[in-house]
Amino acid sequence: MTDLNPQAKQMADESMVRNLAAQARAIWPQEVPLLRRYQLPDEARILDAGCGTGEIASRVGELFPRATVLGVDILDQHLELARSRYALLAPRLTFEHQSVYELGAPDDTFDLTLCRHVLHSIPDLERVIRELARVTRPGGYLHLIPEDYGMLHFPRAAFDPRDFWHEVSAAFSSATGTDLFAGRHTFRILARMKLDPIMVDYVVVDTIRVPRETFAAIIEAWRDGYSAAIGELTKVSRDSALAYFNQMIAHIRDPLQYAVWMVPVVSARKLENLAA
Ligand SMILES: C[S@@+](CC[C@H](N)C(=O)[O-])C[C@H]1O[C@@H](n2cnc3c(N)ncnc32)[C@H](O)[C@@H]1O
Repeated sequence: MTDLNPQAKQMADESMVRNLAAQARAIWPQEVPLLRRYQLPDEARILDAGCGTGEIASRVGELFPRATVLGVDILDQHLELARSRYALLAPRLTFEHQSVYELGAPDDTFDLTLCRHVLHSIPDLERVIRELARVTRPGGYLHLIPEDYGMLHFPRAAFDPRDFWHEVSAAFSSATGTDLFAGRHTFRILARMKLDPIMVDYVVVDTIRVPRETFAAIIEAWRDGYSAAIGELTKVSRDSALAYFNQMIAHIRDPLQYAVWMVPVVSARKLENLAA
């Protein structure tokens, strides 16, 4: 039977809480203009599917002050943290235990459905995207961040990080039944579903646009959360993974070096008549 949550351990680790906070600080400022493009009703209904600790559901709630925002996740400890951190935004912002494979909402419910940093980490992204589209109303929008580990570029030195990201991501994907190159594969899924228009934009997390310490915090959290699993699931040992990550972190902190993580933001509008 397929494990529908192969990164459960990493998602629950304290390093993921740090990571989601750093990712939000890095990505949100560039994501706001992308979210503002959507033609939403004043009292929009918004879903954040796989909301984690609520970093973004809360920001979306503040960005659209008359919207109702529901964050769902399967990790109760993240949901509890989100509820306690953002209690002031309740009841306009709520958090529920639901799986993105089987959401509780009826068809055609939400004006905007977000799913950020989830699709690459779980199997069968097409099934999940179809479920996200199901609960989005005709005329509403999908706003997806499917990560792609071929879109990180770091200086070459003692190690070549290109080898690391390519080898590790391919092996990790096969071992877990996921697609760590989901960023480049999401368009074709949306295109087959006749969603239109489909847009692919990029948030650029680099050493110019984002504070070096924030970018470094993301890679440190990945190092702390994933090196052991990389050692178990790929040909790259845990120690070697640590060395690759440490070289990348040192380069991010070095004011003479440049590094970049291209983060795809894939969005689409659900047509009135969504083909089955
Ligand atoms: C990397 S975090 C992203 C959190 C949030 N979207 C953000 O951008 O800050 C991925 C989240 O997806 C959740 N997740 C994994 N499988 C899920 C599922 N089947 N249904 C709902 N959430 C899921 C994990 O528990 C985790 O909180």
